[in-house]
Order: sequence, then structure tokens, then C-alpha cells
Amino acid sequence: MASSIFHFLILLLFAFSCDRVQSREEGHITAEISNEGLDFLKDLLIEKAESSLVPLELPKIEKSVKIPVVGSVQMVLSNIVIERIHVTSSTVKTGDSGIVIDVSGATANLTMKWKYSYSTWLVPIAVSDKGNATVQVEGLEVGLSLSLKMLNGSLKLSLLECECNVNDISIKLDGGASWLYQGLIDAFEGKIGSAVENAVSKKIKEAIIKLDSVLQSLPKEVPVTNIAELNVTFVDDPEFSESSLDLEVNGLFTAKHEAALSRHYHRLLQASFSCKEADKMVKFSLQENVIKSASSVYFEANKMHWIVDKVPDQSLLNTAGWRFIIPQLYKMYPNHDMNLNLSVSSPPILNVEKQQIKAKIPLDVVIDVLDVEEVIPVACISTVISASVSPGIKGNALTGYVKLNDISMSLKWSKIGDLHMNLVQMLMSTTLRTVVLPYVNLKLSEGFQIPVFHGYGLQDAHILCTESWIVICSDVAPVKQFNLV
Ligand SMILES: *[C@@H]1O[C@H](CO)[C@@H](O)[C@H](O)[C@H]1NC(C)=O
Ligand SMILES: *[C@@H]1O[C@H](CO)[C@@H](O)[C@H](O)[C@H]1NC(C)=O
Ligand SMILES: *[C@@H]1O[C@H](CO)[C@@H](O)[C@H](O)[C@H]1NC(C)=O
Ligand SMILES: *[C@@H]1O[C@H](CO)[C@@H](O)[C@H](O)[C@H]1NC(C)=O
Ligand SMILES: *[C@@H]1O[C@H](CO)[C@@H](O)[C@H](O)[C@H]1NC(C)=O
Repeated sequence: MASSIFHFLILLLFAFSCDRVQSREEGHITAEISNEGLDFLKDLLIEKAESSLVPLELPKIEKSVKIPVVGSVQMVLSNIVIERIHVTSSTVKTGDSGIVIDVSGATANLTMKWKYSYSTWLVPIAVSDKGNATVQVEGLEVGLSLSLKMLNGSLKLSLLECECNVNDISIKLDGGASWLYQGLIDAFEGKIGSAVENAVSKKIKEAIIKLDSVLQSLPKEVPVTNIAELNVTFVDDPEFSESSLDLEVNGLFTAKHEAALSRHYHRLLQASFSCKEADKMVKFSLQENVIKSASSVYFEANKMHWIVDKVPDQSLLNTAGWRFIIPQLYKMYPNHDMNLNLSVSSPPILNVEKQQIKAKIPLDVVIDVLDVEEVIPVACISTVISASVSPGIKGNALTGYVKLNDISMSLKWSKIGDLHMNLVQMLMSTTLRTVVLPYVNLKLSEGFQIPVFHGYGLQDAHILCTESWIVICSDVAPVKQFNLV
């Protein structure tokens, strides 16, 4: 029971989410769990509860019953075990105080041993008998009211109320003179009922405490790649409304094991797009600050560079191919192979707009000549690439498509004298369009797997961009994978 909610929450928190307005602390990610999502969570919990609550042993019940003529009969029920609980109908609701789960119909199967003994003036020797019994409990009702608060950056779950009622019991004895025993057993209905009620409530209380300690121990940072992690510290109490449960976490990327990256991000209004029309379980939105923090982590980790040494038209990477554009290069290094060393020179500027992400990427392109045993940088061209990215989602992977809008270039330094920048620009932009872009688009179309946690992933997800927001509406479903731990 505890582990399911853990999987689900981790999944929610990890995935991409959105910000909320007017909270005290900055929170750049919220997960808005719709009623469909809560239902899914509830069904998961109930399924786990059905199996983890049983076998549940109840205390022994003793009773003496007065029977006409026979007199007082001592009856004992022992080894009472709830073997199976099956929930037939249940609901979950969010209210002002928290979450209310109502199990309006459940059945339980019990097994037990019975024995009796009596002696009367008629039969002075003690008479006794024993056997087994099965008990069917119908109309078991459980009502739980839970509160969920933020405490010290974690979620705190507590049980406000737990009610358990048994409506109907039917007892079947194996063996024995049933007319007598059945009559005796019926006298136990009330006691069995209240024993079941007590045992189930007690077990539920224990389960909630366990669940809470799992929530408290949730990690506050989730590693995303080998260099970046996402801060999933809760910044505010969960908010309950009639249609959803909203969780809010810090949501910025930081370099792994490094708390140095502290930037101030301005808060923006929440996207008004709603997933309700699509009946999705969860709405995740990604505020543009989240992708900005990710890109700045990557930039600062020096991960944004790339050597281009293979192109479809390999003559482009030989000084001969540049003979007419940079004659002095060919003169100094005739027929030398070249490569281009691309590195992002300052953090890319990213803006999320309607249907696309606009990116401005400042790039230093160093032209390297490959000499016998040496790489000789001969010139550096400052380039600014303006592109639009359309994000997509395919299965459980985040995909995208980049369109180049504009390239501007200027010479930063040169060891080979002045260059005809407009000719260089033509050649470079051909290289970018024919080599860099198709490569990037190929990688993006393969997509980045959104991590699957303990077997749960996104299903039938849709993604869209609005002003400053990327919104993902999705269902959550078990994903088949080899290694789910
Ligand atoms: C529980 O009891 C009901 C009624 O006696 C029976 O139909 C059902 O098969 C039982 N389930 C199990 C698992 O014993
Ligand atoms: C009661 O059940 C146990 C096992 O569940 C069995 O060994 C025993 O024989 C049964 N007793 C009677 C009287 O049926
Ligand atoms: C809050 O969490 C920190 C570490 O996560 C811990 O050291 C501290 O004791 C916690 N405070 C309370 C009041 O639980
Ligand atoms: C994570 O977020 C919390 C809450 O906003 C903040 O107090 C904490 O400093 C953040 N941690 C890092 C490593 O930035
Ligand atoms: C690429 O250029 C950057 C500076 O722009 C430099 O630091 C890096 O060493 C170069 N890489 C190679 C493999 O030449």
C-alpha cells in the first residue's frame, strides 16, 4: 500500500509540471491531479490494501450462552482469521480538509475454529464438540478522511477519521449438530462484527503511519541525468479543490551535488489551459524557468559543445572545399582536413510561446585545421542561431522538432587574416542546415525517455505550449519494462 503511493507521487513529481500563482515561496512545478488521477491512485491503494490487510488475525472470542433446558453453554471462537477482503465499490473525494475515501461495499471471508462445552444436572459429564467455521461478511463499509500538509519540504499524511462498519454476517459451520451450533454461533454475530471493525481500523491506522513515513522519506532531489537534478522540495501545502489535488514543488534544475546555482526567477501567471476536456489524470506543466534552469545547469557544466568532423559532402571539411571562400587558408594548409568546434558561448535564451519554444543560441564556431599530429584552430566565428522548437510526446518519450529561423555571424578572431564573412556565412549556414540540424532533429525525434518509476509511466499524453508554459496532460499507466527498481 505504502509503496504504491510512493511510486505514483515520485512519478508525478518527477514529471514536468507547472507553477502556481501567489504562493509565498517560489514553486516552479505543480502537478494537478484530476479526479480521474485520484481515482487511479485510490484503486491502486485499494488493490494493495486488499492484499496487504490480509491475513488478519482477530482476538479469540468467548461467550457463554443460556439455552433452555440445556442451561449455560461455554462457547469459544479461536484462530479467527480474515482471509480475504474484496472491495466492490469505492469513491474518493477531495474536500477542504483533505482527501476522503469511502469504501461503500466490501466483503470479507473469515475462517475460525469453534468449540463448546457444557454440563447440566441432566448430563453431569461435560459434553463438548469442536469444528471449523467459515464466515462471510457482507456490506463492510470503511470511511477514511486524510489530511495532507507540507512539513519541512515533505508531505505529511495523517488520518483524521477512520470508520469501519459491518452490516451483515453469515456464518457456516462445518460438521456438528448444526441446529444447535448454528443457533449458538448466531449469538456471536455482533462480537465477530465488532472484532472485524476494530481489527480493520487498527490495521488501516498502521498502514497510514507507514505511508506517511514513506512520504517523509521521499528524496528532495531527483537525479535527471548524470549532471542535473530536479529540486522536488515541496514549497506549499497541497491545495484541494472539487476537481483536483494540486501539489507544488520548487521544480528547478540544479547541478548534481551542487547547491551553488541560485538564481532568481520571476514568477509568471499560471497557464489557463485545462486538461479537463481530455479527461486526463494529471496535468503537468513546465514553466519556462524550469527549462531555463536545466539549460543553465548544462551550460555551466560545460556540456554544450560539439565537434563536427563528418558531413554528407566531406569536401566541405577540407581546405580545398574552402579554396575560393578563404583562399589564404588553402594557401597555408593545402588539402588539409578540417573540423568545426562548436561550443555554446553563453546560456541559450529560451522563451516558451504559443505552440513553440523560441531559442537563441550563441555559438562559437572554431575552424580547426587538422595537421599531421596537431589540431590548429585558425579562426573563430561568433554565431547566433535563432530557432523554434516544437515539442512533442511519443509514447513515454519527449520529442521535438527544430526549425532554423535565422543565423547571424561575425568574426571573433582569425589567424588567417580577414574573411569574406558573407561567403563564410553561406557555407556555415549550409553546414548547419545540412549537418547539425538534421542530426539534432534525428536525436530529438528519437526522444528522451521520461523515466519510468516502479513500473508507472505516462500514457496517451498530449503536449502543448502556451505563453511561458509547456503543458502535458496525461494518464498514468503501468509500463512494461525489465528493470523496475
Ligand atoms: C468467500 O465467500 C463467498 C461466499 O461464501 C464465496 O463465494 C467465495 O468464493 C469466498 N472466497 C474465497 C476466496 O474463499
Ligand atoms: C478444520 O480445518 C483444519 C485445517 O484448516 C483441518 O485440519 C481440520 O481437520 C478441520 N477440522 C474439522 C473438524 O473439520
Ligand atoms: C527538516 O529536514 C531537515 C533535512 O531534510 C532535517 O535536518 C530537519 O531536522 C527537519 N526539521 C524538522 C522540524 O523536521
Ligand atoms: C530546493 O527548493 C527549496 C524550496 O524552494 C529550497 O529551500 C532549497 O534551497 C532548494 N535546494 C537547492 C539545492 O537549490
Ligand atoms: C573547442 O573549443 C573550445 C573553446 O571554444 C575549447 O575550449 C575546446 O578545447 C575545443 N575542443 C577541441 C576538441 O578542440
